[in-house]
Amino acid sequence: MLQVSCATKYFMDQPVFSGFDLTVAQGRFHVLVGPSGCGKSTLFDGLTGVVDLDKGSLFWNHESISNLNHHAAYMQQKDMLLPWFSLLDNALLPAKIGGQNMKAAENQARRLFDRLGLKGYESHMSNQVSGGMRQRCALVRTLMFNRDLILLDEPLSALDTITRRGLQSLLLLLQTEFKKTILMITHDIEEALLLADEIYLLTPMPMTIFRHFVLESPKPRKFNDPALLEIKADVLDMLEKDLIHEPG
Ligand SMILES: Nc1ncnc2c1ncn2[C@@H]1O[C@H](COP(=O)(O)OP(=O)(O)OP(=O)(O)O)[C@@H](O)[C@H]1O
Ligand SMILES: [Mg+2]
Repeated sequence: MLQVSCATKYFMDQPVFSGFDLTVAQGRFHVLVGPSGCGKSTLFDGLTGVVDLDKGSLFWNHESISNLNHHAAYMQQKDMLLPWFSLLDNALLPAKIGGQNMKAAENQARRLFDRLGLKGYESHMSNQVSGGMRQRCALVRTLMFNRDLILLDEPLSALDTITRRGLQSLLLLLQTEFKKTILMITHDIEEALLLADEIYLLTPMPMTIFRHFVLESPKPRKFNDPALLEIKADVLDMLEKDLIHEPG
């Protein structure tokens, strides 16, 4: 679906990544795990045209494109909800910007609010709801772009473990029910093991892929799955030997 070839980005003569390659296959859940500051958000910004890459080629179904602007929905690390808008109006922004039929868009947004446990909060302002609800609203807004590929930059960061676990099953729905292809950044190895079909373990800047794991265990997964425990032990072993640095 997406082929990233030789992506390169410098900030002030420092390479954030140089010659970075990545393949994103349709329908799969890809997770990037790497130390803080290694360049993950910069990669997403570069792919989506939020910042310009210095070098690199992107191919969408083998066709060359300049960025993913028209192909992917991007949920950035900060939720970027507008505080003077209600949750529903925040979710409707993509439809407004895209000039869509607003009645149909509102129906779609209300269905998503329902599905993601936000029913009854449509008129609340974003500063009147919890962090978990803000994240879910940001997720609805991301889905309202109606794109097949979704880029999620630490979508569940800053949430307590219990809320996080609940929302992780919602992220699985994106793949199973909404048939999205997902490229997600997380610091949480367990989250990656629960959700990912493929995990890319990244090095500190300049960011490269240190290891690529393909996870075959069926979902929903349990933490005591031996195959997952083996990968987890592998990752922790690498952290211990300081081959990569502990995220966060
Ligand atoms: N606009 C910018 N100008 C200069 N340097 C920047 C800019 N944005 C990011 N950087 C630097 O680029 C590097 C990578 O930043 P980035 O935000 O991509 O890291 P990250 O892997 O997403 O980190 P985290 O896990 O903490 O979110 C960091 O050293 C950061 O300080
Ligand atoms: Mg980041």
